[in-house]
Parts: sequence; structure tokens; C-alpha cells
Amino acid sequence: MAKIKSVYVCSECGYESPKWYGKCPGCENWNTMNEEIKESVKSAGAVSKRRVSSYSKPVLINEISTTDEERYDTGFSELNRVLGGGIVKGSLILLGGDPGIGKSTILMQICKNLNNLNILYISGEESKRQLKLRADRLGAVESNLTIMTETDVELVCEEIKNKKPDLVMIDSIQTMMIKELSSSAGSITQVRESTNLIMHTAKDFDTPVIVVGHVNKEGSIAGPKVLEHIVDTVLYFEGDKQMSCRILRAVKNRFGSTNEIGVFEMTDKGLREVENPSQMMLSGRPKGVSGTCVTCSLEGTRPILAEIQGLAAQSSYGNPRRMSTGFDYNRLSMLLAVLEKRAGYYFNNMDAYVNIVGGLRIDEPAVDLAICMALISSLKDTPIREDAAAFGEIGLAGEIRSVSQAQQRVNEAVRLGFKKIVIPVHNAKEIYCDNADIIGVRNLRQAFEALSE
Ligand code: TYD
Ligand code: MG
Repeated sequence: MAKIKSVYVCSECGYESPKWYGKCPGCENWNTMNEEIKESVKSAGAVSKRRVSSYSKPVLINEISTTDEERYDTGFSELNRVLGGGIVKGSLILLGGDPGIGKSTILMQICKNLNNLNILYISGEESKRQLKLRADRLGAVESNLTIMTETDVELVCEEIKNKKPDLVMIDSIQTMMIKELSSSAGSITQVRESTNLIMHTAKDFDTPVIVVGHVNKEGSIAGPKVLEHIVDTVLYFEGDKQMSCRILRAVKNRFGSTNEIGVFEMTDKGLREVENPSQMMLSGRPKGVSGTCVTCSLEGTRPILAEIQGLAAQSSYGNPRRMSTGFDYNRLSMLLAVLEKRAGYYFNNMDAYVNIVGGLRIDEPAVDLAICMALISSLKDTPIREDAAAFGEIGLAGEIRSVSQAQQRVNEAVRLGFKKIVIPVHNAKEIYCDNADIIGVRNLRQAFEALSE
């Protein structure tokens, strides 16, 4: 009897080895090697042979026509912006996100909005009845939409070849499999090979395909990182499931910029676009309490106001806890060190928590100032004025450094009725503003005095 050979494959970088390692020799990540059944040369060869069957002739670059780069308007301006203007024909889009965040819902709503296109929706997760019920609820029962519940990628590609739909949706890539490969659905080999096959079909027939990908515990798309390299666009759906706000972010886009975000709200009729995200982020803000500060962050081309909450509490352990939600943990540690060493606010026996309200994640250093202000406010139990907002980057010397696009940030804060805006002193010189006090500050103490008086 033939012995089944297994191989260990890294879920991050796809490194293969006959032996298990705790730390992947390829990408040096820990605990990422998973056992898989080794494919026989015959079956793996058959799959790749099919792939090289279409030969692409070399052409001069100036002979390639780009005038027909066509984009489909998804009917959601928030989504169009994240995609760089709509769905490009022949592109492969990967949509990732936690379970229950609304991936299947947004796909169904796109079907509803694009009711002039022929759409093929393939689901490997739900039954036809379940899909019909969701479509009913979202008002997407139209004759342009064909539902297929199938997990065999080759049959799916065959269907695309025969019917030539205008748009294909696959929910989800982890349920898809190639029969010839012996590993189970969702394994690294299956996910990688299925995506490859789908990608080639998409390019051959110029059909755009949206593929749903599940995310693992760490929040990245399950399956090797190579998956993100194969596709043209990677979108992530984020947000706190308990709250209605959902944020769509592009982490890779061959057809547009990656720093735009789209904001949606989950309602009983599906996802709704949020045109005024700042207002939504600030709704329900507590009044007159310490430990909260409003900031203005720039997401792509759009300024968004966000509430930062900080809590400093006496620690009962020798090693105080630090926790941050929506903000980089290491940067929080650095800010706490700056607060102690440069400004004399001591957190050494305090637990410190930081939270960006609304499920927003901000990586921009411009929120540093508001984070420090929220923490100082909690430490001193002194509230920050309700009509005040602050932004600025903090350097290791405790100085407040200027940030880009200050005027745009100030305008957004003024639009939402803020009357006192504390900003870096270098930015303050060039700000033009009539309806609010602009206060330029050099250090943390000055900033806190200005915000709390
Ligand atoms: P779903 O799109 O199935 O999530 P995913 O495909 O990302 O796993 O969304 C599921 C959640 O959305 C579920 O908890 C119910 C909620 N929901 C609404 O609140 N309103 C709606 O109209 C729909 C269709 C779903
Ligand atoms: Mg789903």
C-alpha cells in the first residue's frame, strides 16, 4: 500500500518542509507550520499544466490599449472610493473580515445595486434557501442574479467559461477545493491552488471576481500570505461586531490608493453608507467626564474625528497593565515613557488603558497628542473641555511635532462645532480659521492646560 506522505507548510509564507519546526525557517514566525498531505507529482502537475495552456504573446508596451479600462460602479460610493473608482474588469478582489462582520451581506447588496449586470454568486457555505432568504431581506431578488452552491473550483471555472457572467462572487475561498488535490478544503495548498485557478479564469475572460476570505485569530486572511500576492486588491472589513459601525479598508490595491476607508453602518436592511463618519464616531460621547479627548485623523483623503478614551487606574499588581484598542501597543508604551520622563506625569504604578471609540483603528502619529491628553485627563481626573479637540505627533523629547494636512483637520473639527483646537505650534502659523480658537502648543503641559481650562 502506498504510504501517505505528509509535509509541513507555513501558513504565513508557504514554506514547505518534511519536518515540523516551531519557528518557520522561511519567515521566522512561530507556530505557523501545519501538516498537509503531500500532493503526488501527477495531480499537482495536471493542475499546473492546465494553467500554462494559454500562452500570452509578448507585445510592445505602447501597443497595449488602456482606453477600455472599464470600472463597474458598485452603487456604494464608499466602496467605490476604497476600490479606487469601482470594480475594474478582470480584477480579482479579496474581501477579508471576521465572521459575521457583513461580507456576505455587502456582496448581496452589490448584486442588488448592479442589477443591470449578469452576476454569478457561488456559495460554499450557505444553502440556496438561506441565500434566497438573505436576498429577500435585502431586496436583491432580481433575475440578473444566478446562485450556485458548489465547492469544486473546476466546476465553478467551467461555469464562468460557459456563461461568461459580468461579475462573479465566491463566498468563501476556504470552502473551495480542487478535487485532484488530496488535502482538505481550507488547507494552504487548496486555498492557494484554487485562488490561482480562479485568477487565471478571471484574467482569461476579463471577468471581475470578488472572493471572500476568512481571517484567522491574528486577524490576517487565513491561508498563506501568498494569497495576498496573487490577487489584485485586498480589502478588509473591520469593526466591533457589537456596534453597528463597519470600516472597509484596502490593504493592497493595484488600481488605486490604499489609504482610503469606507464607513458603513449595519442596519436591519443591510449595510448603509455613512456619509458623515465624524458625527457617527462622536455620537454618545460622555459629557463632563475625565479621560476622553477628541482628535482628527486623516484616513486617505478624508479627515475623520474620533474620540480617544484613556483610563489610568491604581494597579494592584507589581507589573502594571497596559492595553490599547485601535492603537499600536508599542507606541502606547512609548507615549507613556515620554509622559513620565519628559512631562512628569507618572504612570509607573498605574494600569493604563486606551480605546479608540467606534471600532476605528488609527495608525497615524497625529493621534499621539489626544492619546496623551486622554491619559493625563484620567490621571488627574480633570475633564477636557467638551468643545475642544487636539492633534499632533509627539517626539521622544516630549515636543509636539507638526502633522500633514492640518488645515483639513481643523476644517473638519470646525464643521462639527468644535471651538477650541489645540495643534502643534508649527502648524498653527499657517492655519486660517475664523470660527474657532486655534492654539499652537510646544509641549504636553501647555497642551493639557489649553484643553482643560
Ligand atoms: P454576514 O454578511 O452573514 O457576515 P459574514 O458573511 O461576514 O460572516 O452578516 C451577518 C451579520 O449581519 C449577522 O450577525 C446579522 C447581520 N445582519 C443585519 O444586521 N442586517 C441584515 O440585513 C443582514 C442581512 C445581516
Ligand atoms: Mg458569510
